Amino acid sequence: MDPFVYDALAGRVVFGPGRRREIGDEVDRLGVDRVLLIADGFDLERASEIERVLGTRCVGVFTNVVQHVPVALAEQARELATSTGAQATVTFGGGSATGFGKAVALSHRLPQLCLPTTYAGSELTPIWGLTDGTQKRTGRDLGVQPVTVIYDPELTLDLPIDIAGPSAMNALAHAVEGLYGPGANPVMSAVALESVRVLVEHLPLMKQDPSDLDERSAVLYGAYLAGAVLAVVGTALHHKTCHVIGGLFNLDHGQMNAVVLPQALAYNAPAIADQYGRLTSLLGGDAAGTLFDLARALDTPSSLAQIGFPDDGVDVAAPLVAQAAADNVRSLTVDDAREFLEACIRGERP
Ligand SMILES: NC(=O)c1ccc[n+]([C@@H]2O[C@H](COP(=O)([O-])OP(=O)(O)OC[C@H]3O[C@@H](n4cnc5c(N)ncnc54)[C@H](O)[C@@H]3O)[C@@H](O)[C@H]2O)c1
Ligand SMILES: [Fe+2]
Repeated sequence: MDPFVYDALAGRVVFGPGRRREIGDEVDRLGVDRVLLIADGFDLERASEIERVLGTRCVGVFTNVVQHVPVALAEQARELATSTGAQATVTFGGGSATGFGKAVALSHRLPQLCLPTTYAGSELTPIWGLTDGTQKRTGRDLGVQPVTVIYDPELTLDLPIDIAGPSAMNALAHAVEGLYGPGANPVMSAVALESVRVLVEHLPLMKQDPSDLDERSAVLYGAYLAGAVLAVVGTALHHKTCHVIGGLFNLDHGQMNAVVLPQALAYNAPAIADQYGRLTSLLGGDAAGTLFDLARALDTPSSLAQIGFPDDGVDVAAPLVAQAAADNVRSLTVDDAREFLEACIRGERP
């Protein structure tokens, strides 16, 4: 047994179909009685249902949720928290809604309860992000780590496959990189492998029948495990690359995940023989190739060329990727980054 450090994170998780209706009880558990509801507008009916369950505890509703938490909108949510005297936030939606709750937590130190509706995993992490113009700032602050998460798979039943597939590949990337990211440890590796097992088994079944609540539940469970791993271990080449090229060329995060993950895993393979072997035996075939096949089975794009990476983008991106991935398990020179990006642009099975 190798020595290790495991920095565990606190948080309460309530999981199960219909359990969103326990949100009022969960608020009471925190000993607060004034909450601001931050709800993604994709399903205002569901948001109203949550508001009803909260009853008089709900002192304000913010629905102006958009991607990447622009500072000006975050300020609106913060002002509402101040004017209503909110003592906590309840967020309903994907990583974007969670991000607004974190923005309020960052300025107001309010505890956050989350009702996630995608597989992003942000509800488990102490990482916040705010966008000012085109500049995205992120930071780690234990004060923004949500205190309670209710995973209700019924909230994901309407998540369309073209969002669910890329979002699930994002979750899978959290689990895979959790095996060799900067904070990797044997406890999180066990959780990561279980996450990969659950996601790889159930994603194709969920795609076959998106209305199957058991399959939706399994995928949400796998994504939960992946988020828990991300929160502790952090990210490696895959996410660093997505961050750089997403910022440079405004590419869709979910789609990038589907393209880059198999290629990043293949690049790292020589440096992670043990973890790669465990993944390969779990998946019953070469790990990078199997993940590539899974992404195809979910109808996600296979190459950066398909999702808008510009023809002359490698020159500007390669040095930035090499710099961002300086702590990657396998070293990456600018030339290596160039070759790696070219593999992502071609999008062939690794
Ligand atoms: N801080 C972290 O640790 C962390 C981790 C992961 C992601 N993120 C951030 O989260 C954001 C991405 O999150 P996301 O992928 O969940 O995207 P998202 O929250 O923007 O949701 C994607 C789209 O799906 C819609 N949607 C959400 N749930 C739905 C449902 N159940 N049914 C139908 N439509 C639904 C939304 O309205 C939106 O249009 C990014 O800004 C990313 O940077 C942060
Ligand atoms: Fe991610």
